[in-house]
Amino acid sequence: MPDARPEVLEFLLTRRSRPAKTLVPPAPEGEALRRLLTAAARSPDHGKLVPWRFVVLRGAALARLAGLAEARGRALGLPEGDIEKARNAFANAPLIVTVVSAPRNDPKIPRIEQQLSAGCVCLGLLNAALAAGWGANWLTGWPAHDRGFCAALGLSEAESVAGFIHLGTATVTPPDRERPDIDRITSWIEA
Ligand SMILES: Cc1cc2nc3c(=O)[nH]c(=O)nc-3n(C[C@H](O)[C@H](O)[C@H](O)COP(=O)(O)O)c2cc1C
Repeated sequence: MPDARPEVLEFLLTRRSRPAKTLVPPAPEGEALRRLLTAAARSPDHGKLVPWRFVVLRGAALARLAGLAEARGRALGLPEGDIEKARNAFANAPLIVTVVSAPRNDPKIPRIEQQLSAGCVCLGLLNAALAAGWGANWLTGWPAHDRGFCAALGLSEAESVAGFIHLGTATVTPPDRERPDIDRITSWIEA
């Protein structure tokens, strides 16, 4: 196997997210962040449509968006716990990369395939960050699906949030969660 990269496979077999609420500064910035985005953008993309883009949330914007989440949550009449959770997700984040699904009108490439590509970008960013030693977590929550909140991030009506990828320095390595039983979810068609 001349192309084997056992250390990469070992990473994929053991990788796990770090809970967003346990992330602290510093977060990747400058060239380090650019490299992570570059790795994420190296994702499968049927038709080479690049049906996604990044919106980086950092600095004072995070506190501002925490306030907006609170205001939107109240306007929507959400339970206090949901409002608090969304508010804290922005207020306490060292840095968030919003992966925006931006499907194109293309006669050959179905929308679902373009959205799947955006999901690949989210996982690519998560894995690149983890592989570089950062803590990372893919979250959405109700703000990701609230048009008012999305508009404040500059999303058009045709766009949606594929993920808020929280990046920072990990303070804890949580125990692994239960993983799927491969035999139970795998069937074989052999004849
Ligand atoms: C699209 C998507 C949205 C998610 N949104 C949330 C969320 O809002 N809150 C949450 O606690 N976990 C959310 N998760 C799950 C977290 O990413 C969770 O930490 C993850 O399942 C950990 O898995 P890993 O260790 O294999 O990376 C989401 C996952 C996906 C794929």
